[in-house]
Amino acid sequence: MHTHLYTNALLTTFDQSKGYCLVDDGVLAILGDKISYAGPSAGIPENFETDNVTPLGGRLVTPGLVDCHTHLIYGGSRAHEFEMRQNGATYEEIARAGGGILSTVEATRDASDAELMESALRRLDCLISEGVTTVEIKSGYGLDQETELRMLWIARELAKERKIRIVTTFLGAHTVPPGISADDYIDTVCIHTLKIAAEEGLVDMVDGFCESIAFTPAQIERVFKVAKDLGLKIKLHAEQLSLMGGTELAAQYAACSSDHLEYLDDKGVKAMKDAGMIAVLLPGAYYFLKENKRPPIDSFREMGVQMAIATDSNPGSSPMTSILLAMNMGATLFGLTPLECLRGVTVNANKALGITDAGQLIKG
Ligand code: NIG
Ligand code: FE
Repeated sequence: MHTHLYTNALLTTFDQSKGYCLVDDGVLAILGDKISYAGPSAGIPENFETDNVTPLGGRLVTPGLVDCHTHLIYGGSRAHEFEMRQNGATYEEIARAGGGILSTVEATRDASDAELMESALRRLDCLISEGVTTVEIKSGYGLDQETELRMLWIARELAKERKIRIVTTFLGAHTVPPGISADDYIDTVCIHTLKIAAEEGLVDMVDGFCESIAFTPAQIERVFKVAKDLGLKIKLHAEQLSLMGGTELAAQYAACSSDHLEYLDDKGVKAMKDAGMIAVLLPGAYYFLKENKRPPIDSFREMGVQMAIATDSNPGSSPMTSILLAMNMGATLFGLTPLECLRGVTVNANKALGITDAGQLIKG
């Protein structure tokens, strides 16, 4: 195995939580798929030799970027809903009238594997072009056994098509499909499908949408219980449009993150802190839905809850495929500092996915 040496780099090492920890005239040595040295050129071991050297001309090197919350796989388009909202309809009204998530469910069920794969690859390539090396991808536009499993399978296939790490998330509890009550859907279709997905090795994490237009904490809890029994990591869409207490429930189940959080109260922030959860901020959804209540950023800072930022890439509430734009929105719309934005798409985004072996430029 050859060592590849990148020289004359400006390294971002994020030592603990002390800041960027920039290393001037830095060197990065890669052996196999691991970093064997990251630090000042003066500190390279003396007998170190390699012909494989790439000088970086002083460029900034950060850990690979991570998009820790996406709905990248789906059929159809919801551009007309943007127009409806411009004409005065709200996201909730559109959803209750059978549009929103349900219209994407119909289009996704109708799409072939090849179509879903091809459109997801186009979106994935946008993220990759910006330096994203890990992406979380959810199901949740199938809401039946066949299509939910198909979405997760395609997510696994995408990882074979590109040099990228993909974390798959089962989001069967996204919304209630037509023709069945919420309770029946959870207890029969959703939980049954989750068990099969786990058996087939298709799922890493389990998510839900805890909201008045989706599921109550009690319904989500039934899914979480199964997820816990299966040893799967947990996360939740919570407190996006109203305060439902989903975040406190997620904390009880030692979730990695709670996501959106616009309506979170102090009790919820405290619960996140105590459970060591990451607050995943999704400024794209806030922007496209023209929300005006921001997540409690100051409370997160005061309580020491770490924040991540993601695109929430989806056809309805956040039709975007740019992690850099999500970072920019984190700064302009939510007031995050540039350091918070960069940590939000690297170390903290990894933690939101329960990943501990990546996200910092350090040996190993
Ligand atoms: O993260 N909040 C629920 N789920 C998605 C929206 C999905 C959709 O509108 O299709 C979100 O915003
Ligand atoms: Fe989402």
